[in-house]
Amino acid sequence: MITLDLTLPDTRYPIHIGQQLLDRVDLLLPHIKHNKVAVVSNTTVAPLYLTPLRAALEAQGISVIPIILPDGEDFKTWETLNLIFDALLQQRCERSTTLIALGGGVIGDMVGFAAACYQRGAPFIQIPTTLLAQVDSSVGGKTAINHPLGKNMIGAFYQPKAVIADMDLLDSLPERELSAGLAEIIKYGLLGNAEFLSWLEQNLPALRSKDKNVLSHAVQTSCAMKADIVSQDEKEHGVRALLNLGHTFGHAIEAGLGFGTWLHGEAVGAGMLLAAEASRLLGNLGEADVQRVKRILELAGLPTMSPDLGVDTWLELMSHDKKVSGGEIRFVLLRSLGQAYVAPLAASVLQPLLTGRFIEKT
Ligand code: NAD
Ligand code: GLY
Repeated sequence: MITLDLTLPDTRYPIHIGQQLLDRVDLLLPHIKHNKVAVVSNTTVAPLYLTPLRAALEAQGISVIPIILPDGEDFKTWETLNLIFDALLQQRCERSTTLIALGGGVIGDMVGFAAACYQRGAPFIQIPTTLLAQVDSSVGGKTAINHPLGKNMIGAFYQPKAVIADMDLLDSLPERELSAGLAEIIKYGLLGNAEFLSWLEQNLPALRSKDKNVLSHAVQTSCAMKADIVSQDEKEHGVRALLNLGHTFGHAIEAGLGFGTWLHGEAVGAGMLLAAEASRLLGNLGEADVQRVKRILELAGLPTMSPDLGVDTWLELMSHDKKVSGGEIRFVLLRSLGQAYVAPLAASVLQPLLTGRFIEKT
């Protein structure tokens, strides 16, 4: 196991990465008070991993309140959030009761938001069970639910007490979900680490075959980059926006097709190719760079063609993005492969981009 630290002005927490960590109660104990925790999971993950976690906690005399939610992005809602509050109140949980998020990014984001709100702030721990959650959503304290008018629109910045990323939990992860996680890993290479991008080109086949050492290196590199960025800019006033590479386009795809039709990571992958193409249209990247991004996405098993939402719908959906400032949509673009920046795009770029060669004609 290796442990990274995320340091912020008023808090600091460990990110443990390794194997055989699910029953390592010693990593949880420092964050548990009064021998009681609530473990929040979903109907897919709980049958796989709740029993060993619960047994390990109970062996240390800690009582476990299981809260099992329905599975899916469609359930990242107020109604589902209320199920967590209902259970916490029925079980007389106190402000000091630690919530443990056992699941992917949907569970992690919802449990984090529930913890931020419950009695004005309860402690919580992230045990991410998807690759995407291990490299991105469990780290950095962005918590949220969706609103029918936009993704992750209701939420809070609220940091976990610890993150425990166990590579063994990825054994059961379906191939399509693994590829979705690879999109966020590729994102780190594209936005700020050209050397890591080259490493990924060599190692994507091993990542897709779930080689644990290679996975662990990718998770460590991604979490280290994220921890560094978040420690500079917790509330996204500056550099943290770069972590949204591909997301302005990606969120429009998710909302435009209906949440859950494309996976978040798939939409981000196709969105990163649109960001690369926009950067080529601006003269930053060459054609070879764009083809390289496309090939890396293909190696990861990700889609490269975005759906044809129509220019007006694209613009309407992207106008809800959280980076919109003074009504202006701002995009994460590439100066080179490995260097990103944020800027608006002129209509003379958006029009050809959103009707162009990376849009699937219907
Ligand atoms: P997810 O949580 O929906 O998990 C994907 C699917 O895999 C689900 O069906 C889940 O039940 C299943 N699953 C989870 N772990 C499994 C395992 N080990 N074995 C088998 N099946 C398993 O999706 P995700 O891709 O993990 O997360 C996407 C969400 O994360 C989105 O809502 C997105 O907005 C959010 N997100 C948040 C941040 C952040 O910074 N907070 C960053 C990126 C993404
Ligand atoms: N996933 C983007 C961020 O955490 O800022």
